[in-house]
Amino acid sequence: MIKQIFSLLTLLVISVVAVEWHVLEFDTAANQQFIGLSGDMVVPPLPRAATYYLWPGLEDDTGVFQPVLDGRSGSWWIGTGWCCGDPSLAWGSGFGVEQGDTVHFNMVKNDTTNLWDTSLSVSSKGLYAQTSFPLADKNLNRATFAIELYDVGWDFGPLKFQNIVMTADGSNTGFCNNQPGNLYGSTNYTISATNAITGNSFVSCNIDYLTLENAQ
Ligand SMILES: *[C@@H]1O[C@H](CO)[C@@H](O)[C@H](O)[C@H]1NC(C)=O
Ligand SMILES: *[C@@H]1O[C@H](CO)[C@@H](O)[C@H](O)[C@H]1NC(C)=O
Repeated sequence: MIKQIFSLLTLLVISVVAVEWHVLEFDTAANQQFIGLSGDMVVPPLPRAATYYLWPGLEDDTGVFQPVLDGRSGSWWIGTGWCCGDPSLAWGSGFGVEQGDTVHFNMVKNDTTNLWDTSLSVSSKGLYAQTSFPLADKNLNRATFAIELYDVGWDFGPLKFQNIVMTADGSNTGFCNNQPGNLYGSTNYTISATNAITGNSFVSCNIDYLTLENAQ
């Protein structure tokens, strides 16, 4: 009689998340910080439910303040928040959007209230959301235009930003006139001429369009 011995096979499942970043960065000079960022983001197609995070943002070395177009649910949703701690803040309000919508984002530091006021809108559909964040003590010295992907590729085509206005304090125009940093060199992009306008203790940088293009 043959005794069958069944060995227990332990299946070890190792989960590996593939992360892909495509990022352009505009950095202020030392001792200069952003006090505003506004513009339009054109909503691309959403091929599937997956962790697509597409965003403009302002950051320092403690976190990033960002209106994020989020594809996880299978339909796009956009809302502004502070990622990811110190301070831990609830995500701001937002709304669902669709391919072809133009979302206007506006982030302004308010020195009277000591808050960052943000709004999002799609004027053609009457969509509007606003939230204020207690982040005025941050020294936000980088403006970022980013595609952040988890276990999904860049399969939605170009990401278009228009009518961008980046505003910093002081008088240094370098953040506007220098070429943006291209993290890992992983982003093909086209950008219109930048136009720096110097005001009374601030610099506004106007960019008609900035398109992140898939190099694949
Ligand atoms: C700052 O907030 C105050 C109070 O809500 C408001 O009256 C003022 O217009 C704001 N300033 C800016 C620059 O948005
Ligand atoms: C992206 O950039 C790389 C490096 O400059 C270039 O070789 C490639 O042709 C570009 N791809 C597209 C689609 O423009």
